[in-house]
Amino acid sequence: MAKSFQEVVKNRRSIRKFESRPLKDEDLEQIIEAARLAPSGTNRQPWRFVLLKNKEDKGKIAGSIIQPFVLEAPVVIVCCLDKKAYTKSMVERRMDELVQNNVISEEAAGYINQFKLPEKSEEVKIPSDAYIDLGIAVEHMALMAEALGLGSCWVRLINPGQIHEQLNLPDDLKVAAVLPVGYPAQTPPPRPRLDRGEIIIEL
Ligand SMILES: Cc1cc2nc3c(=O)[nH]c(=O)nc-3n(C[C@H](O)[C@H](O)[C@H](O)COP(=O)(O)O)c2cc1C
Repeated sequence: MAKSFQEVVKNRRSIRKFESRPLKDEDLEQIIEAARLAPSGTNRQPWRFVLLKNKEDKGKIAGSIIQPFVLEAPVVIVCCLDKKAYTKSMVERRMDELVQNNVISEEAAGYINQFKLPEKSEEVKIPSDAYIDLGIAVEHMALMAEALGLGSCWVRLINPGQIHEQLNLPDDLKVAAVLPVGYPAQTPPPRPRLDRGEIIIEL
């Protein structure tokens, strides 16, 4: 039976031990689809993903991964940002789509378009909100994995540039995190959290 959204959010854990059995292709597609549907600032959708699905490809990043469980997962999703998403032509394209779909007015698009944007991706300085956008997409994947009975764990990288090199990725991409995904071989209890009173700031 399908899990309710409340159950998915409540039961998700960072999983650090995986069964070796492979993911179903349709499940992996649903996970990617969950990222594709994520919201982003000005709908820029700056996320890109590299899917490492076999031993050979996972082996390429072995030298950069300090937590061995990552490479034991049947699929490792390398989560990247694309500098091209911040170039003038791409931002204008996304704006046009939003105008065409009646999301924003032409005046609002004109206002945003007046800012000087880099023409070439080499000139792009990735803005901090790019990481917010990518974070939402990655968490969509983590929640979809949970909904499908799979487990995942966000893993930040000590040397993302090294993974970029090891995978021989295009210069436009910036590696930000990896998300190993597979059937959980552990059922961890809930991890500690701050109390409600510690996260709500009363005025
Ligand atoms: C941005 C981010 C980076 C993380 N990096 C790592 C990591 O490098 N290695 C790891 O084992 N867990 C990592 N985690 C998982 C956290 O440790 C975990 O979410 C936290 O302890 C709460 O546990 P839970 O996810 O099971 O609720 C990361 C989580 C996030 C959101």
